[in-house]
Amino acid sequence: MVKGKFITFEGIDGAGKSTHVETISTYLRAKGKTVVTTREPGGTPLGERLRELLLHESMHLETEALLMFASRREHIDKLIAPALERGDWVISDRFTDASFAYQGGGRQLSTHKLDILEHWVHADFQPHLTLLFDVSLDVARARLDNTRTLDKFEREKHDFFEKVRNAYLQRAAQFPKRIRVVDSSQPLANVTQQIEQLIDQLDE
Ligand code: TMP
Repeated sequence: MVKGKFITFEGIDGAGKSTHVETISTYLRAKGKTVVTTREPGGTPLGERLRELLLHESMHLETEALLMFASRREHIDKLIAPALERGDWVISDRFTDASFAYQGGGRQLSTHKLDILEHWVHADFQPHLTLLFDVSLDVARARLDNTRTLDKFEREKHDFFEKVRNAYLQRAAQFPKRIRVVDSSQPLANVTQQIEQLIDQLDE
């Protein structure tokens, strides 16, 4: 029996999710929860090494998908499952929905192959809640252009991100109970309030 809660944050690059990972962790800690924040690809020493490769090396799209799931397998085993067994709240900046959006939508890898990988790596395990930060491509691009040096994914073109965004929205339509779409173009305070409400519902 899993005692803790697993929440994942998703969205196209520049959607603003990482800011909210911090806000929500602080919010939950103030409510007395033990919170573990983590990210994908990454989250473990091996996963972080895979992240370096994934974000900076060009590779076959299936290699990319396999390495994303390899990092995830390690992440679940070493970090996510033990934390949930202790009763902690785990917040991950991205998880499997990102593979369906980026490798499936963006790079057009067959959903069937991704379904097989998902089933292999975490057959009966899903986040309790996924927050999908949704924003127009123009807003996302403007936010990215104001930040650091762009990685391999962030340098992709408009068309790629349009496909990623659509794939995310399709997934949200497919799993409406788990995936909640948050309009991330609203003022920060509104977005924060909205996600705090969703988190509170999970705690009831
Ligand atoms: P981040 O910049 O939000 O930390 O995410 C790293 C990049 O990795 C981001 O551009 C999305 C991409 N990614 C995938 O393509 N597939 C995946 O399964 C995951 C977890 C991330």
